[in-house]
Amino acid sequence: MKLEMLPYKSVDLKTEKILEQLTLASRALAELKGYANTIPNMHILINAVTINEAKDSSEIENIVTTHDDIYKVLTESGYKEENAKEVVDYRNAIWTGYEQIKKDEYINTNTIVKIQSIIEHNNAGIRKLPGTELKNSISGETIYIPPQSEAEIRNYLKNLEDFINDSEDDIDPLIKVCLIHYQFESIHPFYDGNGRTGRILNILYLVLNKLIDSPILYLSKYINKTKQEYYKLFNEVRLNNNFENWIIYILKGIEITSKETIRLIQKIQNEIKNYKEEFRNNLPKIYSKELLESLFYEVYTKISYVEKACNVTRITATSYLNQLEKIGLLEKKKVGREKIYKNIRLIKLLSEE
Ligand SMILES: Nc1ncnc2c1ncn2[C@@H]1O[C@H](COP(=O)(O)OP(=O)(O)O)[C@@H](O)[C@H]1O
Ligand SMILES: [Mg+2]
Repeated sequence: MKLEMLPYKSVDLKTEKILEQLTLASRALAELKGYANTIPNMHILINAVTINEAKDSSEIENIVTTHDDIYKVLTESGYKEENAKEVVDYRNAIWTGYEQIKKDEYINTNTIVKIQSIIEHNNAGIRKLPGTELKNSISGETIYIPPQSEAEIRNYLKNLEDFINDSEDDIDPLIKVCLIHYQFESIHPFYDGNGRTGRILNILYLVLNKLIDSPILYLSKYINKTKQEYYKLFNEVRLNNNFENWIIYILKGIEITSKETIRLIQKIQNEIKNYKEEFRNNLPKIYSKELLESLFYEVYTKISYVEKACNVTRITATSYLNQLEKIGLLEKKKVGREKIYKNIRLIKLLSEE
């Protein structure tokens, strides 16, 4: 069946089951939004959360790596582990997209193309050659053939763009996320990177509609855990036009993930509190909020970061970090000619998630 343009006229979006799950998802997301807004140093938590999303989203596409390799790519300029590098690029793509929509206040095809080019680090852009088919990864049989010509793909993307930016229709934005994700993946506009780009699009849409203020709600962990269902439901929609289960699946993901994200933020906050106490008790002379926060902004810190954050000389910054290492809050590692200081407990916390 040919892919329908949005909004889907034939689909009942207000079934009892959908509305029930919509309430649960909306409530959980509102709670996350409210909670995040009470946190004064939210900006320092976003980086940590996006590392995990980048890792999980890539893993859905069988790009598997470890936290350790990710940190190495972040800190060691010559470190070459392809999968970890892709994960780091993915996180950059999230940030680029976020900054772009904050500026534009809409999402267009160019932004989507830009995000995909960062993930794939190439400028292939929208598919120009026919031949892309979605196949069952085990049996190899073709499941679905997305639109083939560039003109057709652009047409669908324009339609999607209109749907995304139309705030006058009376479809709940959370329901729209479900439809946008389905439609985007079905257009499958790129040779590769469609899954990851589509999942970034989801969070950008939520931010654009102010359902959340920071880019912190990510479904990839949930999708990873339920991968079979994710793929199965795509096909169920395609074969039977059965959107109900798809929508409920995504909404449930939003509900579960919102709750999990609150817990994760609480854990990080808690760790910041512990660090603060140990830091203040043991090194009262050098304690400052800026220095404490610079230990959490990334999972590691460098002397130059502290110089900047605390406005001190290189010698002072080095001494600060060495003292923090001595009391066990950081772990020093020599990388080439540079030293990096790992926030070991934050790393542990994120790896355990
Ligand atoms: N039957 C399907 N119909 C539509 N989209 C699908 C289907 N099966 C998988 N997908 C989407 O395609 C993505 C994989 O596409 P791909 O371009 O390889 O993305 P990536 O490079 O990020 O791996 C999946 O994550 C999923 O979102
Ligand atoms: Mg792929």
